[in-house]
Amino acid sequence: MKIICSWCKKLLGEKEPSDDPSEIHAKCAACIEKQKHQEQFQKKTESGQIITLENGSQGYISMAGKESPKLSFGEIDFSGKVFFAWDKKRKEFEKHLETLSMDEVNVTWLHSAEFHIDKPLKRRGRKKEKEEPPPQVEGPKEDIIWNCTVRVSKDTALQIFDSSIQHNRRYMELLADMTHNWLERETIPVDSEIFLFPPQEADIPRFVEFLREREIYERTIAIPYPYTDADGKKFIELVDEKRKEFGHSMDWGIRNTKAELIGMIGFQGKSKKDSGKEEVGFWLGKPYWGKGIMTKVIKKLTEHAFREFKYQRIEINIFSFNDASCCVAEKCGYRFEKLVPEAYQKDGKAIDAKLYAIETIDVQLT
Ligand SMILES: CC(C)(COP(=O)(O)OP(=O)(O)OC[C@H]1O[C@@H](n2cnc3c(N)ncnc32)[C@H](O)[C@@H]1OP(=O)(O)O)[C@@H](O)C(=O)NCCC(=O)NCCS
Repeated sequence: MKIICSWCKKLLGEKEPSDDPSEIHAKCAACIEKQKHQEQFQKKTESGQIITLENGSQGYISMAGKESPKLSFGEIDFSGKVFFAWDKKRKEFEKHLETLSMDEVNVTWLHSAEFHIDKPLKRRGRKKEKEEPPPQVEGPKEDIIWNCTVRVSKDTALQIFDSSIQHNRRYMELLADMTHNWLERETIPVDSEIFLFPPQEADIPRFVEFLREREIYERTIAIPYPYTDADGKKFIELVDEKRKEFGHSMDWGIRNTKAELIGMIGFQGKSKKDSGKEEVGFWLGKPYWGKGIMTKVIKKLTEHAFREFKYQRIEINIFSFNDASCCVAEKCGYRFEKLVPEAYQKDGKAIDAKLYAIETIDVQLT
């Protein structure tokens, strides 16, 4: 009886009776590993962490900190002194080796980093060859795993330092590609003065500053008042959860040319994932009101959502007294559909809402 790998069909062994033609299906170590990586890849794909590099390769990077609280990959401890292996640090490193009285050096990699990519990287900036078929993601072809301590001679320590410089350069290139890719993927340009980019923790002081304005609180349903740092943190967590659930950003900071946040816009994410219907909410810091900013932002995001997220209908629910918002909605092509009496409860009072909506048939996508 033959034992066969159910994936690669390799013969793994035989079992008595040897004249029995039937087969037992198992999985070989390589295929188990491959399956593990495919599952990992699938998870990363679902959570939007797969990056596509300039050369068309796809992959992800994972890092784990060990001893230092600050995660800075590529840091290596050489007998008690931590170095980031970089050309400019080489002289300092050589001096450090000279000061060590022992001939041997303890080398400890403080972080482990794994780089999974579907095919070896080519040099950055090189154009993809036209005939090349799209990469098939099978699993890692290239893994670099650092996380151990070795005791080596000073010469070897120097070699390790030099080869780490190469690795670090490579990681830097990779990270630059990833960052570039991520920035590009997540940015929605509106015009030369405004662009949209998801909110980050660093934006929290801007939330606190702008949301001190009571008029914003009075015209919105989900913004706490007075707004605190803790509210900002909770909001950023919610943004991350929504991104994971929907596979793309659902919230964007409205930003000026200095990338400073001046307002927010986002989809509620309350509709069912595949219903094709969403509700948009927004606010702008008071110093920026009345300059036509929200009108162009909503127009742009509406178009983006129809095109990229394949929404079929977008709604805005506006407190009935909020004339500025109604005006913006209309200028963006949203139709007034109905008045919903007592749609919301806020501070013990019932508030009527006006429902505005736009559908794919209402817009001409270019
Ligand atoms: C509503 C809000 C986002 C508008 O942003 P904005 O960038 O100032 O809007 P725009 O400049 O693009 O357009 C505002 C329009 O409303 C008009 N408008 C402003 N106040 C108005 C009022 N009280 N009555 C009628 N129209 C008004 C403006 O004249 C302008 O129209 P115009 O360009 O034809 O003159 C902003 O005022 C805001 O953040 N408000 C508080 C939070 C909020 O209401 N969020 C929306 C919840 S649904």
